[in-house]
Amino acid sequence: MSKKAVRVAVTGAAGQIGYALLFRIASGEMLGKDQPVILQLLEIPDEKAQKALQGVIMELEDCAFPLVEAIIPTGDPLVAFKDADYALLVGARPRGPGMERADLLAANAQIFTAQGKALNEVASRDVKVLVVGNPANTNAYIAMKSAPDLPRENFTAMLRLDHNRAASQIAAKTGGKVGEIEKLTVWGNHSPTMYADYRFASIGGKSVKDAINDQVWNAEVFLPTVGKRGAAIIDARGLSSAASAANAAIDHIRDWALGSNGQWVTMGVPSNGEYGIPKDVIFGFPVTTENGQYKIIEGLEIDAFSQERIDKTLAELQSEQDAVKHLL
Ligand code: NAD
Ligand code: LMR
Repeated sequence: MSKKAVRVAVTGAAGQIGYALLFRIASGEMLGKDQPVILQLLEIPDEKAQKALQGVIMELEDCAFPLVEAIIPTGDPLVAFKDADYALLVGARPRGPGMERADLLAANAQIFTAQGKALNEVASRDVKVLVVGNPANTNAYIAMKSAPDLPRENFTAMLRLDHNRAASQIAAKTGGKVGEIEKLTVWGNHSPTMYADYRFASIGGKSVKDAINDQVWNAEVFLPTVGKRGAAIIDARGLSSAASAANAAIDHIRDWALGSNGQWVTMGVPSNGEYGIPKDVIFGFPVTTENGQYKIIEGLEIDAFSQERIDKTLAELQSEQDAVKHLL
């Protein structure tokens, strides 16, 4: 017997990431090749955005994906999130000319407050929320705080792109295979302050730290390369990363929904106080996932270098939270 369709809401559906994401969700790469989906696609109500969304839908229809039971386009979050089992919050306000970071935070705080409230009102009580739109951790925090009737652990932010970027750099450096990396993680904010940590990682069963054995490379090449990769892509493409961001979103939800088979993955999730991170800060942690739940890996040793990095990315997240506090 075929499975019951699940409802997947995607915001910013006519944007770049949306275009790289929707076709993969529809083909079953995110939730499995046996899982039918109903796509609930949110764009701003503006005529141009809604028309662009119609174009994306025409293309989805033309793929004749057997798993797609329905597609619902809308400009209203209450329609997009109605009974949603998954919500991928991709749409966000980009930084415009002359806009300060505080203005960007405030503009996004409005969007994610409204979307958090709408999720609270109409989504499935088990909805799994992934925030991709930047600043992703703080937007996820705002949505979580605006949805008091939903379990706080259902709100997550995307650190998986940073995780995948780190894995790729490590494979290149060691000459190993990216698919043979285990126990890698990225701590903190999805921003250049994130701390990609390979101290516990192995590649092909061998310690990555021992294989690299170069703390100068770690501090001066690896961390800046991973941290500034988003900016490097904007510089090269004239547009921010889209296919790799969509790929990371697929990885994040797939592992959360279907399990990571004992592997560590990185998710931005609300802290319960682990590693001294204050409760509710949405922080990149190493997790394993099973039966639709994630579990933070606890008890890892944090050395002085790592503590300094973790403190720095935490301080940035706390200053972002402070900047939006009055809006919550
Ligand atoms: P884009 O500008 O191409 O598309 C964004 C879309 O969102 C637009 O179509 C816009 O109309 C829509 N939108 C804006 N506000 C909306 C709202 N309130 N409700 C619904 N839709 C809304 O941008 P993109 O390249 O697709 O990137 C989307 C976001 O993802 C950006 O904030 C970007 O910085 C972020 N991003 C995050 C990561 C990550 O790793 N977390 C990686 C890459 C990009
Ligand atoms: C990325 O990491 O590629 C993006 O978050 C960059 C950006 O600013 O959109």
